[in-house]
Amino acid sequence: MFEEAQYFAPIATQDDGSVVVELATSHPGFADPVYRARRNAIAGLAVNHRRGTPIPVAEYIEQEHEVWALVTRELAAKHATYATAEYLDGVARLGLPRTRIPQLQEVGELLEPLTGFRYLPAAGLVPLRDFYEVLADGYFHSTQYIRHHSVPFYTPEPDVVHEVIGHANALASDRYAALYRLAGDAARRVRGEEALEFVSKVFWFTLEFGVMQEGGELKAYGAGILSSYGEIEEFRGMDIRPLDLAAMGTTHYDITKYQDVLFRADSLQHLEDVVGDFWATCDDDSIAKLLATIP
Ligand SMILES: [Fe+2]
Repeated sequence: MFEEAQYFAPIATQDDGSVVVELATSHPGFADPVYRARRNAIAGLAVNHRRGTPIPVAEYIEQEHEVWALVTRELAAKHATYATAEYLDGVARLGLPRTRIPQLQEVGELLEPLTGFRYLPAAGLVPLRDFYEVLADGYFHSTQYIRHHSVPFYTPEPDVVHEVIGHANALASDRYAALYRLAGDAARRVRGEEALEFVSKVFWFTLEFGVMQEGGELKAYGAGILSSYGEIEEFRGMDIRPLDLAAMGTTHYDITKYQDVLFRADSLQHLEDVVGDFWATCDDDSIAKLLATIP
């Protein structure tokens, strides 16, 4: 899940209750009326969903299943080189379908016996507090549409490839899932918007775009890198900085480009000690003190 509004296509609910996704003219699916109708229908599923009820089935076309199969195959080859061992263990445990797009209901049913996480459908942008707070309860908000089939390795917005290949495989790991829950606990504990934003930026630079040292090499565990066909080849050449809470909580990022500043944990234990402990204990006061250390 990406957090900033500009990245998501806005959603409008019409007077008759129908839901319209407002794709930008630059979106690969803008001129495809069949894709747009499907996007509207899928967004409508999320708008009308009530938690605790089964997630309605999204209808995909064959070309979209082919996109999933292609991207799954290509990313798996790259994961073997670039992903952490813990993430690869999650891939093996979860056992996602490789040749068709899984329904979000199915993703939750695979995940729940492993780490207790379930998926919730999101039409588009989820407000920051809602997105993070429910992580504490083991819920993950996810978009359900897939990128346009004309450009299988590109998406201008987080789609089901990102949400499921990037996040669900990580959420299948007990240790990563525990970190997601701690981020949720932190979001629920902090009161101010500034503190919430700090918590979310630490999430961004770790569970979305985190890298870690493993066996003498730099590996990725962040969902944003692991779901991006291009970014996964580039991250080792970025500006890699040591794990630093104050820096992560205040560094500006541009979600429309590759992340050029990344933060490296020395190990998973190091990530848990620094970021896990931060989320487990932070409050508005401790975050204000961290902010005060930034010149
Ligand atoms: Fe994400």
